[in-house]
Amino acid sequence: MTHRVLMLPGDHIGPEIVAEADKVLRCLADAFGLAVELEYANLGGCAVDAEGTPLPASTLGLARQADAALLGAVGGPEWDGLARERRPERGLLAIRAELGLFANLRPAILFPELAGASSLRPEVVSGLDILIVRELTGGIYFGDPRGIRERTDGVREGFNTLVYGADEIARIGQVAFAAAERRGGQLCSVDKANVLESSELWREVMTGLAPSHPGVELSHMYVDNAAMQLVRAPRQFDVMVTGNLFGDILSDCAAMLTGSIGMLPSASLDEQGFGLYEPVHGSAPDIAGQGKANPLATLLSVAMMLRHSLDEGDLADRVERAVARVLASGLRTADLAAPGDSVTPTAAMGDAVVEALRAEAG
Ligand code: NAD
Ligand code: IPM
Ligand code: MN
Repeated sequence: MTHRVLMLPGDHIGPEIVAEADKVLRCLADAFGLAVELEYANLGGCAVDAEGTPLPASTLGLARQADAALLGAVGGPEWDGLARERRPERGLLAIRAELGLFANLRPAILFPELAGASSLRPEVVSGLDILIVRELTGGIYFGDPRGIRERTDGVREGFNTLVYGADEIARIGQVAFAAAERRGGQLCSVDKANVLESSELWREVMTGLAPSHPGVELSHMYVDNAAMQLVRAPRQFDVMVTGNLFGDILSDCAAMLTGSIGMLPSASLDEQGFGLYEPVHGSAPDIAGQGKANPLATLLSVAMMLRHSLDEGDLADRVERAVARVLASGLRTADLAAPGDSVTPTAAMGDAVVEALRAEAG
């Protein structure tokens, strides 16, 4: 059966990194018989410009028919002045909500070759292998009421609502416990239960799930401490589970432990295994069009897609090995380069991964 993959390049560096994913998928088709059909659609600022809305109905329709989707990144200063419903980021939030992509898996793994690229000392980060499980379709991102209004004294105020249903907490909790069972058996739930009622319920529901997962040791940590522990002693963590906003912030922090935000992939999954695969980083307008973007987060997202949605675990392993070999050969995009290192442009990095894949095919 041919896999249908929807490609959503998005804005700024988005098209540059998705072009490298396209190369890799075509190489897998060519050299390893992956049966895949790639379709392209607009999401984000490019969709606003071409079709007047950040999530066109046609894009959503194609996503519903696809087996998986790959996102580059959306957003940029040229759209920041638009009404909130028309901004690129709203397109991404809407596709996540429409497709029920509640479980966002963000693995932060240090490739040994990059120990020196991390902003932390090699002895602090070597061997790092964390999985952040971020709730993605609830919490303060989606709670009502929200808005900007005028107070009775005439001063404007902005407001949002942080609300989590016990069902939403249990659903993401199950994903996290199952992941911890497959990995090192440690699950750290991150909240702000000392201040927030939504976190009090979060902690209660997570605790209630623990007895049915005897192989997992559950712990709880306040989010401020978790941010500190991530940079103090990150290897204490195996799986972390947290809400939408805390997960957004902690995963960018964890990304830097691996050498660069340009290294972190993610999978945004629904209950059936459909996934939107997305690098954790944004559209990086500051480096767009200069061949400086690191495509590896996107290529590692392709590996996650192969494993989680397309049932092609062997090809997923191959892509990850190819990335490791390229790093071992010394190639570095600008974000990973030490002073004095020669810098490999985006497209050459993608080409090198394709070559490493072909070399293994024989
Ligand atoms: P960003 O992640 O785009 O960039 C932060 C910094 O990291 C920049 O200096 C950038 O150059 C660097 N960087 C990011 N990805 C890189 C890569 N692959 N290779 C090398 N360097 C990389 O975050 P930002 O600047 O806060 O946001 C820029 C835009 O992206 C905003 O419009 C924001 O809303 C949007 N955004 C989109 C997504 C997404 O589509 N998933 C995620 C985050 C931010
Ligand atoms: C991410 C991004 C998005 C988020 C934005 C662009 C809506 O930062 O995927 O991490 O906050 O979820
Ligand atoms: Mn983010």
